[in-house]
Amino acid sequence: MKKAATISSLFYSFVFKINGMYTLEEISDRIEKEIRNMDFPYSPQTLYTPIEYILSLGGKRIRPSLALMGCNIFTDDIQPSIQPALALEVFHNFTLLHDDLMDQADKRRGKPTVHIKWNPNTAILSGDAMLIVAYRLITEIPGKQTELFIRLFSDMALEICGGQQYDMEFETRIDVTEKEYLHMIRLKTAVLLGTSLKLGALSGNASVEQADLLYEYGINIGLAFQLKDDLLDTYGDSATFGKNIGGDILCNKKTYLLINALRLASPEQKKQLYDWIQKDTFDPQEKIRAVKEIYDQLNIKQLCEEKIDAYYTQAQQILLSDNLPQDRLQVLKEVSNNLMFRES
Ligand code: IPE
Ligand code: IPE
Ligand code: MG
Ligand code: MG
Ligand code: MG
Repeated sequence: MKKAATISSLFYSFVFKINGMYTLEEISDRIEKEIRNMDFPYSPQTLYTPIEYILSLGGKRIRPSLALMGCNIFTDDIQPSIQPALALEVFHNFTLLHDDLMDQADKRRGKPTVHIKWNPNTAILSGDAMLIVAYRLITEIPGKQTELFIRLFSDMALEICGGQQYDMEFETRIDVTEKEYLHMIRLKTAVLLGTSLKLGALSGNASVEQADLLYEYGINIGLAFQLKDDLLDTYGDSATFGKNIGGDILCNKKTYLLINALRLASPEQKKQLYDWIQKDTFDPQEKIRAVKEIYDQLNIKQLCEEKIDAYYTQAQQILLSDNLPQDRLQVLKEVSNNLMFRES
């Protein structure tokens, strides 16, 4: 009798969690397992090996985690969110292949980027293939939600392209405003986090209102996330962050840091910043050091941290809604908290 009960409860906990909620560790394990099990064609090897390479390097897997958690908030069965979660992670990794080429970044997740390890054309074409794989995953989602998911996914993907375009155009402008910057990072980064939660929630049969609340939450967390990414690009530790420090400074990226430094600089500091921005030839380390020194003089790090905190607080407010099951939000809160204090 005892044995039978144990076996049935084991079976039950395999299909549905006993208390209904997955822990962060269980969610991460499940995502890793699903990504490892993804099957890519054998040939041409030169097309698929870079895909397996970038996916195997890990990363934080935030987007698929948000999808699974978004689903688990509304149901004990997270299975329907697995395929959208994989699509979101493959799509994210596709954007990284192209982004690293556009940003001339040599290192990602502590390893050479695809265009460095192979070549730019490989990053373009393997990236394209990943975008197609992501779409195939979305279109193959069983059930009646496929059409809606394709539309939400496509809207998001186009917004990201728009964000990336603004990001590049801003490199050659010096008059980018904070408002323009915030719009740009909403597009290039925040919508993917918002959509991850939304697709997860809808997979778990949340109402449209509930899914939209989580989308807004994801947008605010996403804005804070990109601000933190910009901060770490200057103030992080390369070994932990996995990317070269100072890349944004070298590309004249109009980050929150640079926009506010230009706004708050004295005439002398402004002249120095403009000089560095306009120089065509320079010692990279010297430029990074000089610009960072001006950021330090102007207390820019703290300003950025305050902005991150403001978006995080705004996100937390959204979660207080009566429309969300308050007893099932703990894991999502935990993840978001980890993101705010991350160093990688
Ligand atoms: C990098 O995203 C691109 C940004 C939007 C800043 P992540 O920091 O989530 O990268 P991984 O997937 O964890 O490596
Ligand atoms: C990346 O922004 C946004 C997308 C990839 C769409 P960043 O260029 O800041 O990301 P990292 O720093 O290279 O990861
Ligand atoms: Mg980049
Ligand atoms: Mg970029
Ligand atoms: Mg960055």
